Amino acid sequence: MTTLNKVTAAHIAALREIAGDKNVLVDEESLDRYAQDETEDLHFLPEVVVKPETTAQVSKIMQLCQQELLPVTPRGGGTGLSGGALPQLGGVLLSMERFNKIIEIDERNLQVTTEPGVITEVLQNTVKEKGLFYPPDPSSRGTCFIGGNIAENSGGPKAVKYGVVKDYVLNLEVVLPSGEVIWTGANVLKNSTGYNLTQLVVGSEGTLGIVTKIVLRLIPLPKNDLLMLVPFRSAESACAAVSAIFRAGYTPSAMEFMERDALLWVTQFVDSSTVKIEDDIQAHLLIEVDGNYPEVLMQEMEGIAGIVEGYDIGEILFAEDSTQKDELWKLRRRVAEAVKANSVYKEEDTVVPRAELPVLLKGVKDIGAKYGFHSVCYGHAGDGNLHVNIIRGTLTEEQWNGTLTEGIREIFQLVKELKGTISGEHGIGLVQKNYLDIVFDDTSLRIMRQIKQIFDPNNILNRGKIFDC
Ligand code: MLT
Ligand code: ZN
Repeated sequence: MTTLNKVTAAHIAALREIAGDKNVLVDEESLDRYAQDETEDLHFLPEVVVKPETTAQVSKIMQLCQQELLPVTPRGGGTGLSGGALPQLGGVLLSMERFNKIIEIDERNLQVTTEPGVITEVLQNTVKEKGLFYPPDPSSRGTCFIGGNIAENSGGPKAVKYGVVKDYVLNLEVVLPSGEVIWTGANVLKNSTGYNLTQLVVGSEGTLGIVTKIVLRLIPLPKNDLLMLVPFRSAESACAAVSAIFRAGYTPSAMEFMERDALLWVTQFVDSSTVKIEDDIQAHLLIEVDGNYPEVLMQEMEGIAGIVEGYDIGEILFAEDSTQKDELWKLRRRVAEAVKANSVYKEEDTVVPRAELPVLLKGVKDIGAKYGFHSVCYGHAGDGNLHVNIIRGTLTEEQWNGTLTEGIREIFQLVKELKGTISGEHGIGLVQKNYLDIVFDDTSLRIMRQIKQIFDPNNILNRGKIFDC
């Protein structure tokens, strides 16, 4: 593998020439701000941070780094959960924060063209003003960037009905590691023209190129929604109810699972009194339906309530108004923060075919008992996507960084047996790459490495993410 170089004073001067003095940071305090994302408690200082504003600047930066063999780590909002934005090799941290403009909302074609540094919620709210909807909504939507969402192929609660980021990306402007600039596709809803470079870049975790412009498909904004919180006496029953709801012909716009500790911890964390968690309740499902006709939604809610009643539940909470809906969503969206505030943890982003969720949950708990760890599970049950947060608690260093690895391997092996995979929406990045062999054979891994090589022969861009090469 090509040896990469350290950043020198001459490189910093060249970067300043390209991006302007104030957009190149080398002081320790600034470097420290870019040393972590939301992944565990990991921390790596870059050697320099550069904040370009135009595609031409990104292209020049990549040309420089290619010529000088400098490692480059692209960064969006820094909310990633698999370490994709961590500069573990030092080098150049390329922050996309100044690419923060929504370029055009095309109301005739229901599309938006945007820069990657726009905060997801800002984009959602801006198109909402025009009656349009961009559904992918990770919990971090108030701080994450659209570009980061594309790098990770993010999901979020609405994915169950509306799909994930890949389902909305039509076309991308990408700066390659060589500095060349390409558009990957066309602004169309159908495209069977050659290989699909757009979808190759989506979810590639900043390893193939730097996305500088994005064309997204939008849909009309649904006018109404209803929300209910269903308490279950058994967490496995809650998981079993999920597939029963879909089998009965309903497609909720969200179907979120929170086991007891997830809701308990977040309730304490945000100091909320919205939900009273009874002693015998082990899990909750937060279920939303949306659409244009309130009477249809009411019928759907009643139908779903009828199904869950067969799964040993407590009293259902039907959200009365938008304030209560917002409260319930706040609780769900802030679970990750609450867990983080409670203990250091490792998060596994398991996903299985939805009917296998009860088996997965039981398996996770059995493996936890075997290896002596406590886990807090929650996630997008309608997608079969269970976030397994393994709590460090009182585990020793040897257990945490030693034997636990075997426990995680067992969880992932179970996921594979259930015909699932090891990440639904958080990516592989730095922290999951040693488990990739569980889900891909040597041939598939070789093809992926070869693709990386074609895009980035010297492996300067986000080296060490997804695989070591
Ligand atoms: C979520 O579902 O809340 C997000 O994926 C964040 C997380 O799990 O940490
Ligand atoms: Zn999630």
